[in-house]
Amino acid sequence: MYLTREEEKMLKGEMGYAKQVAMEILVALGEIYGAEKMVPIRSAQVSGVSYKNLGEAGVEWLEELSRDGRVEVYTTLNPAGMDIERWREMGVSREFAEQQIRIINAYTKMGIHPTLTCTPYLAGNKPSLGDHIAWAESSAVVYVNSVIGARTNREGGPSALASALTGRTPYYGLHITENRAYSIKINVPDLKDEYDFALLGYVSGKLSKEKIPLFSGIGSANQVELKALGAALASTGGTAMFHIEGLTPEYMLPPLDRVEEIDLEERDLKNAAEELNDDTEPDLIFIGCPHASLEELIMIMQRLRGRIVKKEMWVCVSRSIKELAEQLGVYQKLEELGVKIVSDTCPIVAPITSLGVKSIATNSAKGVWYSRNINKVKIKIARLTDLIEEAVQ
Ligand code: F3S
Repeated sequence: MYLTREEEKMLKGEMGYAKQVAMEILVALGEIYGAEKMVPIRSAQVSGVSYKNLGEAGVEWLEELSRDGRVEVYTTLNPAGMDIERWREMGVSREFAEQQIRIINAYTKMGIHPTLTCTPYLAGNKPSLGDHIAWAESSAVVYVNSVIGARTNREGGPSALASALTGRTPYYGLHITENRAYSIKINVPDLKDEYDFALLGYVSGKLSKEKIPLFSGIGSANQVELKALGAALASTGGTAMFHIEGLTPEYMLPPLDRVEEIDLEERDLKNAAEELNDDTEPDLIFIGCPHASLEELIMIMQRLRGRIVKKEMWVCVSRSIKELAEQLGVYQKLEELGVKIVSDTCPIVAPITSLGVKSIATNSAKGVWYSRNINKVKIKIARLTDLIEEAVQ
């Protein structure tokens, strides 16, 4: 693999310990995937933040890197295991909270912005078409490749951090134009809202697996729908991008030689909804997977029509969206109605089973899929309107 003189210096440890470790990770990755060189990046999004997933060994590794490691590009951070202000209200233990703060401090020392969100593109990290970036967090990766047209592979936490520390990523996969073409075309039935888009993503991920799909028949889609689609697609499939005919910026790239074509019907989405329902009475209703936008908060407020929420209901957002909602009075209104606006985390990365949650309802296919497979809780998927009606019963 060709390395520039500066990259060689990093590899030899002439630019410090952290950059050396980072360059070793990237060279190993580049060699596995046959990259010829590194490419400079514009931004990074680092995952691996919750103490629930990292444990003590992870905290020590980050603290070691933070001694001399400083990021070279604008870098943001995935959600943590708790709301850093409301963790006591959430029922998180002091011991967990202290470890979580150590992790955030280590990242912050490296120069990373503690945005603590899976929607960095709603929190200031918004690349442009054609930018090379290194992002972890599968839902954000799919969104940024597909909707914005920036270029990233589906990085893991360590490789995204390594890229942030060196300002480079190995040049392979989705950094190369030809690899961004679709090889499966999926004809889509009528979709009503983000719930249908989430089910479409869930079904399509299973069908397309590692292949990039082109969706045909979706006339228009808003940001909420596109993020629901991408998050679900990346949960059941291994792909890191999609195209939508007439909508996303690179859908006209010539397809790969052999294109498979699949017709989906409404029945397929209904079957998916049944698969994602354990017929349970939820302990927690949860909106915001990926983290909710201001539009979603306003939508929830409008649909509540002043009614008080009687069940535990969380809406997960980034801290920047929370602050915006505070300025507009939306945050205060929702909290008055009994909705908890939870920042910096979500029920998947927070230690919710130790908080007594045994079943979850949400409108997100990714949210239920991970709740079932990672947190092992009972699940229910439903439209936002139905979740709100359930919450006020
Ligand atoms: Fe974000 Fe948690 Fe969903 S990190 S994408 S809200 S699983």
